[in-house]
Amino acid sequence: MCGIIGYTGFRPACSILLEGLGRLEYRGYDSAGILVSQDGELVTIKAKGRLDSLRQKIGDHPPVGTSGMGHTRWATHGEPSDENSHPHGTKNLALVHNGIIENYIELKRGLIEKGYQFLSQTDTEIAAATMDLNYDGDPVSTIAKSLRQIEGSYAFVIMFRDFPDTVYAVRKDGPLLVAPGDGENFVVSDLTAAIGYTNRYFTLDEGEIAVLTRDSVRVVDLDGNPVEKTERTVGWSIEQAQKDGFEHFMLKEITEQPAALRNTIHPRIKNGLPSFSYDQIPEGFFASFDRIQIVACGTAMHAGLVGKAVIEQVARIPVEVEVASEFRYRNPILGKRTLVVVISQSGETADSLAALRLARSLGVTTLAVVNVAGSSIAREADYVIHTHAGPEISVASTKAYSVQVSALYLLAFSFGLAVKRIDEEEAAALVSKLEGAVDAVGAALDKAPELEQAAKRFSDVQSLFFLGRGLDWALANEGSLKLKEISYIHCEAYAAGELKHGTISLITEGIPVIALATQQRLMGKMVSNIKEVKARGADVLLIAKSDETVSHDVADTLVALSPIDDLFMPFPAVVLLQLIAYYTAKERGCDIDKPRNLAKSVTVE
Ligand code: M6R
Repeated sequence: MCGIIGYTGFRPACSILLEGLGRLEYRGYDSAGILVSQDGELVTIKAKGRLDSLRQKIGDHPPVGTSGMGHTRWATHGEPSDENSHPHGTKNLALVHNGIIENYIELKRGLIEKGYQFLSQTDTEIAAATMDLNYDGDPVSTIAKSLRQIEGSYAFVIMFRDFPDTVYAVRKDGPLLVAPGDGENFVVSDLTAAIGYTNRYFTLDEGEIAVLTRDSVRVVDLDGNPVEKTERTVGWSIEQAQKDGFEHFMLKEITEQPAALRNTIHPRIKNGLPSFSYDQIPEGFFASFDRIQIVACGTAMHAGLVGKAVIEQVARIPVEVEVASEFRYRNPILGKRTLVVVISQSGETADSLAALRLARSLGVTTLAVVNVAGSSIAREADYVIHTHAGPEISVASTKAYSVQVSALYLLAFSFGLAVKRIDEEEAAALVSKLEGAVDAVGAALDKAPELEQAAKRFSDVQSLFFLGRGLDWALANEGSLKLKEISYIHCEAYAAGELKHGTISLITEGIPVIALATQQRLMGKMVSNIKEVKARGADVLLIAKSDETVSHDVADTLVALSPIDDLFMPFPAVVLLQLIAYYTAKERGCDIDKPRNLAKSVTVE
């Protein structure tokens, strides 16, 4: 996820772009760059690191001009560096990009054959060269032709050397708004970047090209036909808008899960089957292991617990999951055919990094599932799967968890195919169910009002229990961590059948219990466990697969999901747990995005 801005008007473009990028920096801060049209020349300045590095580089000599574009980068393809920073320029044009070009390797091959050379490792430079190759003197037809060749998600702002004061913009999946002003026009990833100058905007739709000059905004389709757009206005403050109108980054990130999941899953599906060619994982890889060791911390470790259940069920390969801080000090036994999988959002967690290094020193193959490209774990693992959750700003991890789990499902299907536990038809059916689970996540988000209501009764409790069996037990662990992390309520997650072996003595009148029952096969047993705690006075909130699978009087409150295959229920179910944690913390007046004693990336042991 990156932030982009285009401007043409009457004000000094450099300062408008820097101000806008400042408001977009939450979208990524690996590098930043601007381009200003100065006396007909497209002058580019870019720098690795935060926007301040770019500001320092520009210093007291800003390029002079009233049109330009800017970019703040969250690295996906290619490490953070000056070369990989946007804008990327060619003989005829320059552009900034937010998104992922999925067929960039194929496009690159063709471009190299035509004599193109590349300075960066980015997919964006390939898009720029593709447009350059197609350039016919008409920017609109050039862009249209190129978009027919480019696959993936993108929001592009493009400027052509022959038309130095005109800004062109297109999008597919990535956000991009056109914000018309008076005698000046903007195109921005979100309105925060223009809100100081205009509150008018419209969304650009897929297959539309916006053409901005100082005095006009025109939108055409890919055949050059004019498109009418309806303008809207907003009354946000800049502060609110930086969170896209959400009160907290956590809630914003919870709602971003469908998009994050799609961005992570889609590049890894080819012809309906799981494929990790996108991550350069070789064909033979998945048949090379007879044991898998997952190592991670916190929420990432909980994603591993779901992954274990799914890999073992689909591929019948034994999987162990361990917290990194224990794994690294216990002299683990790892064979030649063991794969160590390290899961980390930040890619910088000290214990996970140390566990990875230990595994490598013992000569075993390592695979990292990492959200931050260019991070230490991503750099040091033998193989890397980059999840595409985008920057996760709230300390409580939500969307990063879901995308980690989705990557583990695709891994499970690939292992299953490689060891012939499933055939292609079964793998394709699983992949399609995984895609369906993303829609179920969207439906789970609609349950927010019910959970906000339910959370009211947890706001002053001292202690709370989460119960589940199988996949629901893995989820219970995550629900418990999320709630204690941001609401400071003491919680415990228990395997529902284990409670009666000691801990049930803590269940007294009014103790809240959140029970998960999303697994049809285990429903009868789960209902018995709920009755055991109810009989001792517990106040039970039940999250069930659907309201038809369980009798309504089993619990005090029932929140029912839309049913999908049991194996995929963790995707919608975790959303409810995240929302319970969020609304409970909100009710208690906690600092949700920055809970006490915590840091987003734990780089100490
Ligand atoms: O960046 P990582 O995924 O390696 O971080 C691991 C944990 O520190 C992290 O998941 C932590 O548990 C979250 N704050 C929980 O919401």
